[in-house]
Amino acid sequence: MNSDRRTFVAGNWKMNGLLDEAKAFMDAFGRNPAEDVVEVGLMPPFTLLHPMSERLAAMGISLGAQNVYYEDKGAFTGSICPMMLRDSGCHYVILGHSERRSIIGENNAQIRSKMTASWLHGLEPILCIGETLEQREQGITNTILTEQLAILKGAPKDVPLTVAYEPVWAIGTGVTASTDQIIETHAFVHSELQRLGHDARVLYGGSVKPENAEEILACDGVEGALVGGASLQADSFMAIVKAAAKVAS
Ligand code: 13P
Repeated sequence: MNSDRRTFVAGNWKMNGLLDEAKAFMDAFGRNPAEDVVEVGLMPPFTLLHPMSERLAAMGISLGAQNVYYEDKGAFTGSICPMMLRDSGCHYVILGHSERRSIIGENNAQIRSKMTASWLHGLEPILCIGETLEQREQGITNTILTEQLAILKGAPKDVPLTVAYEPVWAIGTGVTASTDQIIETHAFVHSELQRLGHDARVLYGGSVKPENAEEILACDGVEGALVGGASLQADSFMAIVKAAAKVAS
């Protein structure tokens, strides 16, 4: 459930961004120009969370991390716990991004543990789901999405949750899903979420850019975008926010 149903434009910086670049980005971006209809969020790397948090809040921009560990504290060298993210000003945490699933080998059980720990400490997960090209070609997209969403079975219902549908083959490739594919898949994701009792906001991700943002955000069932590459530059990210504002108003 997410009581905030404004369109959500979130920028996932992945492993990009040094302090000087973050400052230059914030100088150039300025305030969220459409706070009444569009929520803007940024998920920079861990090292930038604290340095950016105060200024982003003043700019009307929500803050999130890209990952979290599920234990509270202790001997887990290199890990970051939910309370540390809260301490750095985070409201969101991205979970289950395809790069973590495929490169780091994260599985649904681990993602479920991270989700539970996030809720326990007041973070809102942005749960990423999506099929590979091979899975789409095999016609098993919906089966894969159902498996990924099954981690919500038995989870509490009154928890904040955003879901991002990111077809793996559209991430960082410049290829976006067609509007028909987006509408059809988002309808399926919404119906699965309803079946599981979660009225989550559903974003689209995968090569969203200023040139295609309006068309994608206007698709039925799309409530925002999770933007990778185009969120690194203030002007392209701003153009996407403005496209979202145009569609929303
Ligand atoms: P790109 O926008 O660079 O394709 O990345 C999408 C993504 O993975 C956001 O989480």
